Amino acid sequence: MKISVKVPATTANLGPGFDCFGMALTLYNKITLEELVYPDKGLEINIIPGEQDNETSLLTIPMDKTNIVYKAVELLYNYVGQTPPDLRINIQTDIPIAKGLGSSASVIVGGIIAANKLLGNPADEAAILSIANDLEGHPDNTTPAIVGGFCISSAEEDGSIIYKKLEWPEDWKIAVCMPDYELATQISRSVLPETVKMGDAVFNLKRSAMFIDALHTKDSELMRYALRDKLHHPYRSRLIPGFMEIKEDLAEIPTVIGTVISGAGPSIIVIYENNNFDEINRRISTVWESLGVKVTVKKLNIDTKGAVILS
Ligand code: HSE
Repeated sequence: MKISVKVPATTANLGPGFDCFGMALTLYNKITLEELVYPDKGLEINIIPGEQDNETSLLTIPMDKTNIVYKAVELLYNYVGQTPPDLRINIQTDIPIAKGLGSSASVIVGGIIAANKLLGNPADEAAILSIANDLEGHPDNTTPAIVGGFCISSAEEDGSIIYKKLEWPEDWKIAVCMPDYELATQISRSVLPETVKMGDAVFNLKRSAMFIDALHTKDSELMRYALRDKLHHPYRSRLIPGFMEIKEDLAEIPTVIGTVISGAGPSIIVIYENNNFDEINRRISTVWESLGVKVTVKKLNIDTKGAVILS
């Protein structure tokens, strides 16, 4: 039996919603699992690189049972008290690695959902959400990768995931700007303080509450106010040279609602109205190219379906 699952990229945090807000985007990885019928075939892993992939980083992907897709498959089999059979795993990576676009969440979710289908769907959505978060650690990436759309997610102490999926206004477009270097989430988290000032926590509390109202009322002015953050941007900006300059430059365009770091970075997302993509692309490319950074800017939509089983 052979199962393929298409899983979207995700952008986490969206400014004030650190470790809580996340949204699925129309850029995908595809995970295919195939049970090997002859015994003792073991495990075969094939990587099919996408156009954004850096071949050197693909070479660092483990090709044995420590591979993250295999681990995801194994967790799902363990959930029903089994171990995985001999398998061929194909990983088609159109979501670039270590760019803050949820590539690891995407392949974990793909492995879990494909394994679940191979087993006849023993795990329900709640179990899939929880198992994916156990391995990935960031429900703000795994939840929208599974269910699509914009999600508010919380991992509870018992391992369960509580989430709400909200509608994203159709007129608010997303430009995803990917620099040509990588930033590991572990490094990007290591620069964050263990404690924050009460004033900074309150700053984010107000803005994340306003963010949700802005979504419900499609109020771009309120969203402009809401898309600010004091919990991670002040620390991570220095790992992303040019970010502050780009943010200030784009704030001059009246139809730009906000510019934030995507997940742990280094990609940046710009939320904007109308057809300003070319202007945004030109301004970002000018700043980053002046710093010797090559950049790919893509216009992406919100994926509303989440992970989909293809066969
Ligand atoms: N919320 C997480 C972070 C996402 O910002 O570190 C990591 O992908």
